[in-house]
Amino acid sequence: MDMKRSALRMLILIIAALGAAGLEARAGELSDRDAANAPVAAPVGARASTQDGTQSSAEAHSQELIAHVCEACHGREGNSNDPSVPSLAGQGSAYLQDQLAGFQAQRRVGAMSGVAMNLSRADIRNAATYFSQQILRTGPIQTADLNALRRGRAIYDDGIASIDVPACASCHALDGAGLPSAFPRLAGQHSRYIVAQLRAFRSDERLSTNGMMQNVSARLSDGEIGAVADYIAGMQTDQVRGRPGAQ
Ligand code: HEC
Ligand code: HEC
Repeated sequence: MDMKRSALRMLILIIAALGAAGLEARAGELSDRDAANAPVAAPVGARASTQDGTQSSAEAHSQELIAHVCEACHGREGNSNDPSVPSLAGQGSAYLQDQLAGFQAQRRVGAMSGVAMNLSRADIRNAATYFSQQILRTGPIQTADLNALRRGRAIYDDGIASIDVPACASCHALDGAGLPSAFPRLAGQHSRYIVAQLRAFRSDERLSTNGMMQNVSARLSDGEIGAVADYIAGMQTDQVRGRPGAQ
């Protein structure tokens, strides 16, 4: 009885490990180099293999899903108008896949959880590829508090040495473009969403790889979180302005 149960548990572990390895491999395969080389407005099905009917109907299903479900909340081409919903446009494909897998595994819980549960592997891969290839368009910067922005910039660029907060730039890049495939792009993201995520990391409601964002957020005050989030929302990368030479 016990033997049987532990054998079963082992099998589940192996399957889970294989699944994770597969996802990782895929994520690598589709990483941002691919995304950058692909035509910007490529339809999701661009890389579908046509010799296989199931594959293309999976692609068609993903396209429907993106247009009618994802874009209903995340906005057209992943440019969200709702400050509590993140823009997905231009975000790294591997990061997007990892987060969707995280919602499925309940490593991360939120408004996305219900939607994520119903996604197939193909949907995750196709949606991540599609959104990573869109261009982020940011609206006008909301804040007018220059002192807070300056404070936010100092935190972003240099961290706060006196309380051991590392510079955001060291992982997310100086211009906020992120470092594929592990460190998400932050530049141009909604301030309200950033604030909510930093608080969720601080309270352990959202976990992060190796606890990296727990370390970063543990000693940040609400005021510091607000300041750095406003600074991030106003950052512009080449990606935000539109990629030169990638029509
Ligand atoms: C009902 C609205 C809604 C729908 C529909 C929806 N999302 Fe989301 N999504 C959200 C919200 C809200 C968040 C932020 C969740 C949180 O606070 O943790 C989010 C977060 C995400 C994230 C994490 C982004 C990041 O920067 O970490 C990904 C990836 C994502 N959604 C992908 C998708 C995809 C793909 C679809 C379509 C299959 C989809 N979403 C449909 C509301 C929605
Ligand atoms: C040691 C590396 C590291 C440093 C330093 C760091 N981050 Fe992160 N950050 C990460 C990783 C890794 C993730 C992805 C979280 C995960 O594993 O799911 C992340 C995710 C985030 C997210 C969530 C993005 C999204 O789309 O949901 C925000 C917001 C964020 N970081 C803000 C910051 C800010 C602000 C700072 C500086 C105060 C900072 N980070 C410093 C590694 C770092």
